[in-house]
Amino acid sequence: MEIAIVIMAAGKGTRLKSSRPKVLHQIGGRTLVEHVTAAAAQVVEPKDIYVVIGYEAELVRAALAHTGVRFVVQAEQRGTGHAILTVRPEVEGYDNLIVLSGDAPLIQTETILRLRDFHLVQQAAMTVLTTRPLDPSGYGRVIRKRESEPEITAIVEQKALTREQLAAPEINSGIYAFRSQPLFKNIGRLSTENAHGEYYLTDMAALLTKAGERVVALEVDDMEQVLGANTIAEMMALDAAMRMRTARALMAEGVTIYRPETSVIDSTVTIGADTVIEPFVQLLGRTAIGSGCRIRSYSVIEDTTIADNVTVLNGSVMNSAQLARGAVIGPYSRLRPDAEIGEGAHIGNFVEVKKSRIGAGTKANHLSYLGDADIGPGTNIGAGTITCNYDGKTKSVTKIGANVFVGSDATLVAPLEIADGSYIAAGSTITEDVPPDALALGRARQTIKPQWAKKMRSRKDKE
Ligand code: UD1
Ligand code: MG
Repeated sequence: MEIAIVIMAAGKGTRLKSSRPKVLHQIGGRTLVEHVTAAAAQVVEPKDIYVVIGYEAELVRAALAHTGVRFVVQAEQRGTGHAILTVRPEVEGYDNLIVLSGDAPLIQTETILRLRDFHLVQQAAMTVLTTRPLDPSGYGRVIRKRESEPEITAIVEQKALTREQLAAPEINSGIYAFRSQPLFKNIGRLSTENAHGEYYLTDMAALLTKAGERVVALEVDDMEQVLGANTIAEMMALDAAMRMRTARALMAEGVTIYRPETSVIDSTVTIGADTVIEPFVQLLGRTAIGSGCRIRSYSVIEDTTIADNVTVLNGSVMNSAQLARGAVIGPYSRLRPDAEIGEGAHIGNFVEVKKSRIGAGTKANHLSYLGDADIGPGTNIGAGTITCNYDGKTKSVTKIGANVFVGSDATLVAPLEIADGSYIAAGSTITEDVPPDALALGRARQTIKPQWAKKMRSRKDKE
């Protein structure tokens, strides 16, 4: 039984008032069409998924390039029926087709499988996935032959509803299964005589029924799964639903998420058991967090890998960083791309780390900039230490060995090498390499002028 999945994604989404195609808007950190494709790819091979693209086709193609699906260009978008006519040459050979909408991103694999199985068991020519939302207005309505039976006679679009049909509670989700043979035998009969002057795929219900074919509906209780979005506000409601779904899945795996409605967790994020996420945390992109970690409030973490037992204190910001076991970050730390924080290392408040390796157990606890630095284990970076990695033209590396003590407010002018076990006096500007176990001082010697202040004050009094 050969099955193809067609994802209709050629429309613009005019009602969003956005120049970006609707299917490329993001919820839960991924585009709508990527969510639909991911669910479809659990049902059939990517080579059997055909995405109909049209408006900004190349952008949609690029967004899905990594998935291995096939594309069919519908140059002019003349309706959902026309989308299927366009893909016909590619899919006519399959026994059955499942048709998904690129703008209904919450659809889940299990529901697609249920639709497939119901369609096959019912031996239907067309099966429509339906639901009964609180407010059905705007959707096409499904008209059943008899309320208790699966057969339907028609799908009626909102604008064509008769007075009695206006109250019809069961809506068309825009998700269908078809047997290819009767579909393509009859699809030529679609017309554009309707409110939008388009070929409606929904008209196939009445056409197939009239041709003596069996057309049925499968109603799902979880109406969230078929929701679409016509406005940005509706899109954000889908976003909240998708993120809550992600949070629930993580909690089912042993992650504690306090006040999950306040967290912003992308569906691509992974988190190990016994990790605690406090309220108002954002975990984005390809972030992977181990187990036994604690991520405190107001941290924003993107594309970052965090090993087990790491503590991220409040308000830390990370992008493309890597943290080894037991590291402690924050509050208010900033880890920029290629910051590699070693096992048990501490990065404290107002410390910025960029493209630097921080050795195991090393501490940089206060007010520092560490850029293009390679720092060994067991080293202490004093408060206010700055690596001067940029001379206005090029970036240079600061190498600091193991068990070094860098005193507070040191200015380390790269390129520079500070060897193991050495000591940098507080307030130094260091421009030359420091050998092992040495003390480096690079600051003006202190002078004392006894009674100077007192004399100055009495002079002022006389004036
Ligand atoms: C459609 C259904 C409606 C259903 C609703 C569910 C029709 C005529 N109506 O309406 O019964 O209740 O979905 O959300 O089908 N597309 C193309 N090419 C086109 C036109 C559309 O690929 O020429 C794509 C769109 O990008 C979108 C999907 O098909 O992903 C559905 O089109 P849309 O315009 O959103 O249809 P609705 O008005 O929502
Ligand atoms: Mg729609």
